[in-house]
Amino acid sequence: MWTHIDSASSEGNRIDLYERNGLFMIRVDGWELMNGAYHASEDQLGHLAGELSSALHPEILVGGLGLGYTLASLLETLNKRICPTRARITVAERSSAVLRWFGTHINPRLAATLSPAVRLVESDVAAHLGIDRRWDMIVLDVDNGPAALSTMGNAALYETNGLARCRDSLAPSGHLLLWTGFEDLPFVERARAVGFSVTRKSIPLPNRPDQAHLLYVLSREPLSSADRDRVGLEV
Ligand SMILES: C[S@@+](CC[C@H](N)C(=O)[O-])C[C@H]1O[C@@H](n2cnc3c(N)ncnc32)[C@H](O)[C@@H]1O
Repeated sequence: MWTHIDSASSEGNRIDLYERNGLFMIRVDGWELMNGAYHASEDQLGHLAGELSSALHPEILVGGLGLGYTLASLLETLNKRICPTRARITVAERSSAVLRWFGTHINPRLAATLSPAVRLVESDVAAHLGIDRRWDMIVLDVDNGPAALSTMGNAALYETNGLARCRDSLAPSGHLLLWTGFEDLPFVERARAVGFSVTRKSIPLPNRPDQAHLLYVLSREPLSSADRDRVGLEV
């Protein structure tokens, strides 16, 4: 049984935090946004972002903190591959309640030990996009996919103009990584139309062998086949 811990309002939506046996769940207007019982694909998203970070001092934007699994996995992978303090990470989370709960309930240990190179900021991820930006990596997990939105305002991120804005916010060899609950071919076509090279990774779900989530990698320059093979990406 989930225990209700707290609720808040976020841009007109009601947001609730629940806990069960040390795991947390966030609901928005009663709809499950993130459940700590299932985080394999959030882990894989952070891991893949860390594996694809090739710049000496990568600048990484993470859209959506949620329960922080993606951030934790990104930091762990960077720690193994490069010194994490060489990377500068900005996590844009639009809900002040989620940011507060992260430090008080969800993962106080990680929150207390984040290096100054990791900034958790209360803002819409879109505020960090623009032609004056040069992110090496943008990691987007603000919805359950380009068509399953946590808020209607996010739709613009996945439309042609939003994708072009993401492209222009990336360094020339940068990547945009997205989590999605299901294949979205019209989205892939739009991404290709604005010049992205699109690869994907299927994430089998533990205990649900008939289902898989997907990670999309949208790259300004096509990845070499050696890099694709190294991180298990398919065209
Ligand atoms: C599915 S959860 C993220 C899960 C996260 N990857 C994890 O490991 O737990 C989505 C998060 O994105 C936030 N969010 C939704 N739209 C946003 C936006 N436009 N900008 C910033 N954060 C946003 C939500 O408040 C929520 O915390």
